[in-house]
Amino acid sequence: MNSDWLRFPGDFRWGTATAAHQVEGEPADNDWWAWEQTPGKVRDGTDAGCACGWWAGRYNEDLDLARTMSQNALRVSVDWSRIEPREGQWDGAAITRYREMLSAARARGIEPMVTLFHFVSPMWLIEKGGWEQDGVVRCFERFASRVVEELGDLVDFWCTINEPNVYGTYSYLLGLWPPEKHSLWAAFRVIRNQLVAHAFAYRAIHRLQPRARVGLAQHLRVFDPWHPRSILDRYGARLQDNLFNELTLSPPADGILRLPLDLNVKIPELVDSQDYIGLNYYSRDMVIFDLSQPGMLFTRRFDMPGAEFSMEGWGEIYPAGIYRLLLRLQKYGKPIYVTEVGVPDNDDTKRSRFIITHLANIHRALSEGVPVKGIYFWSLVDNFEWKEGFSARFGLIGLDLPTGTRTLKDSGKLYGEISRAGAITVDMLKRYAPELVETAERGLL
Ligand code: FCB
Repeated sequence: MNSDWLRFPGDFRWGTATAAHQVEGEPADNDWWAWEQTPGKVRDGTDAGCACGWWAGRYNEDLDLARTMSQNALRVSVDWSRIEPREGQWDGAAITRYREMLSAARARGIEPMVTLFHFVSPMWLIEKGGWEQDGVVRCFERFASRVVEELGDLVDFWCTINEPNVYGTYSYLLGLWPPEKHSLWAAFRVIRNQLVAHAFAYRAIHRLQPRARVGLAQHLRVFDPWHPRSILDRYGARLQDNLFNELTLSPPADGILRLPLDLNVKIPELVDSQDYIGLNYYSRDMVIFDLSQPGMLFTRRFDMPGAEFSMEGWGEIYPAGIYRLLLRLQKYGKPIYVTEVGVPDNDDTKRSRFIITHLANIHRALSEGVPVKGIYFWSLVDNFEWKEGFSARFGLIGLDLPTGTRTLKDSGKLYGEISRAGAITVDMLKRYAPELVETAERGLL
């Protein structure tokens, strides 16, 4: 085996991803902050105020460590409620802070990608009906335009909306996140409005900044039939795939929103409304046909028994899934960025191995011609993981609460070595995951 076990293209983007609400700390007038104040909502009793202090300037410490890790890319988001705290009123001081943050990244040779919506809405928007009312499309378009006008000299790489399928499902169907609705109808409306808002923002951004690269981050899961030869299980897996993955994946290409029962909605603005595809990948589900589940259209999802897991409730660690999904994205003919991939691993015992096995699968897709241009590992630093608070830690940098002291984890050191070399070497394998050397040598990773 060559000492460079896997070499990546020289212009590969090596980055990490974060989101405003998860790292900024300090209250803002948004729906998540309001919701977190009710005891019991967040698993460990924390709220986003305990987050990483970015609003107070502590991003400098994380960016220094990102630099130490030789990163050349970073995905961040802006909090709509800070920039437009009342409808139509823009907060110049908030814009200045974002400008400082983005300049700080650039000064370290790190190119920012900015997400415009990452799960958190201003309260004034919620009071108007939030993402369920059609007016949100124009509000979002106006917000996106303003952000590009204010930050466009520092950023030309935009992600309009993060994971519309996850937002619709968690907030409007399963009722786990604010506004805690349980309505299939509301979930579809919200997802449709997010896709249309994406399309309008896509066109507005390009009018203001013709060279911009604009896309959205798609959360895709792998759904496999429990019995691969059973027609019914295969039907179940395809149904889940259509309802979760395809629902948001194909519309920005062909402009058709495919709803159950063949209820297709054509949305002309959406046709060819992405310059790249952003893939957020975490896990897979096994699917079985189950007559006792009429509410789930006779399908049931479960974890692969005997698989490797990260933390309780977070699903299987399934590295081949990223390879399979990347192959599937090839047909769109667009550059692909892995806009998130990561693992909750509070003691950092699994993350190094996770990084190696997932990068090996990305490399495999690259070697088969899939145009993967970079990866944004989730996440740069341990942060406020929504309903889980700080009980699920995803960072390459460890965060001590409440002092906010940062420590680069072993997995962060590995990610740094890989970024610096542009390759995974045999020596890295030996030092960080010796148990993988033999499998790697046999080309089976
Ligand atoms: C993704 C979210 C991100 C983070 C990770 C763990 O679905 O986009 O904010 O919560 O999961």
